[in-house]
Amino acid sequence: MKKVLVLDFGGQYNLLVARRVRECGVYCEIKPYTMSMDDIRAFDPAAIIFTGGPATVFEPNAPALDNAIFELGLPILGICYGQQLMIHQLGGACRRAEVREYGKVELTHDGTSLLFDGVEPTSICWMSHGVEVEKLSPGFRAIAHTAGCAYAAIENAERKLYGVQFHPEVLHTVHGTEILKNFLYKVCGLSPEWSMANYVSEAIGEVRAKVGSGKVLLALSGGVDSAVAAALLYRAVGEQLTCIFVDHGLLRKDEGDQVEQAMHDCLGMRIVRVNAQERFLTKLAGISEPERKRKIIGEEFIRVFEAEAKKLGRVDFLAQGTIYPDVVESGVGGESVVIKSHHNVGGLPDHVDFKEIIEPLRRLFKDEVRQLGIELGLPESLVWRQPFPGPGLAIRVIGEITEEKLHIVREADAIFREEVAKAGLERSINQYFAALTNLRSVGVMGDERTYDYAIALRAVETQDFMTADFSRLPWELLDTVSRRIVNEVKGVNRILYDVTSKPPATVELE
Ligand code: XMP
Repeated sequence: MKKVLVLDFGGQYNLLVARRVRECGVYCEIKPYTMSMDDIRAFDPAAIIFTGGPATVFEPNAPALDNAIFELGLPILGICYGQQLMIHQLGGACRRAEVREYGKVELTHDGTSLLFDGVEPTSICWMSHGVEVEKLSPGFRAIAHTAGCAYAAIENAERKLYGVQFHPEVLHTVHGTEILKNFLYKVCGLSPEWSMANYVSEAIGEVRAKVGSGKVLLALSGGVDSAVAAALLYRAVGEQLTCIFVDHGLLRKDEGDQVEQAMHDCLGMRIVRVNAQERFLTKLAGISEPERKRKIIGEEFIRVFEAEAKKLGRVDFLAQGTIYPDVVESGVGGESVVIKSHHNVGGLPDHVDFKEIIEPLRRLFKDEVRQLGIELGLPESLVWRQPFPGPGLAIRVIGEITEEKLHIVREADAIFREEVAKAGLERSINQYFAALTNLRSVGVMGDERTYDYAIALRAVETQDFMTADFSRLPWELLDTVSRRIVNEVKGVNRILYDVTSKPPATVELE
């Protein structure tokens, strides 16, 4: 399979560049711009993309490349800093722009370049730069401009070298995907052959080659990534895989059963389910500080997992559902491994005897992981699950946790989810749940005074969960949910809807 090399200069949209290329059906990987020429040759790319970055080409110590890269004869697309660097290194010049362009800007191309083939003459693009090309390198010409930038896109068609000052990977660039497709298909002659349907057999082959006849152990969390990793591993090595599912009693209504059933019914796979509810509740008794709860749950998870894993004796591989965005560091990309706490809840087990870690999803983006899950036969309900935090309902009961409170929040949450699904809003809200506030207030039911808990409903829309906006849910939906919870869940007499965004609030209440 042909692949594109994305050389990372540290720009904020770099992961998006790789995602868009893959969405065009072309496999690519992000590597740091410091990759050696030998490694680049060994990677054997069909084309190279230079990303944007925060540096300024003409300043000392600015990231630069070996000029040999331009002699490989490969098509290259430079984006923002990438364009400036190409020009700078090939005998042209850049300067600080008189007007810093930022945001949506009208772009006009001259209709003569393959890069803009089929693209409207004038359209909106996304700009974010304070430096611009001043003088082109020999053999280059301008192919598009904006009011403030004469070299918004450039080419040396003969050498297949292209540059854009704007960001085609950002969705605000209306024809960004078409421009990338033009580069990949028309300039580079690549075709869209990267899809999860095609990838399955390759991924299975890779796992088999690595695992051989070894034993693999995986901790299932009930989340999408570990479930898809399990499905892939099971398809590849069958009973050599053991999945341990620690049910800490902090899952949503019927969730533990659903995970077990999906793995069994859809894949024919048996999992080891450890019902450790009591153990966790005992450890959490009397604890109300959120971070303390998280720590206890993380540690306890590892202890339970270890105890179960010990029964298997030595395993050869410990599998994890790490995905590509976790692997590529923010900033100047590369292959540094960041194991996020929520992938294994509380870090790696100290007392499990294994040879190596295996991460079969480490090259995939989240949407690719979901497609792969579907290809492997997992149900949509599991594959399209909304994010659910490792510590589960423990951080959705504010303050001290009791069995009664867990029951209340679980039932309220189930009603909320059921009604959101009925309203057809499941996929348009990124995360939604009920939380039990530790607040009790006065109410009246029938002729009686009540003094019960208030439930907070939370629903957010977000791209990356770093910032989020609260969802403008229809009043009718909130009305139905509110009535149902108060009527059906004993111990609740008030429903609040959280209308804060993040920041200043967070998504979870704890
Ligand atoms: P916050 O509350 O930080 O949530 O705005 C952002 C996203 O992270 C999830 N979250 C967690 N996930 N362990 C996890 O695995 C945690 O301790 C944790 N806290 C928050 C949250 O559900 C949301 O998707």
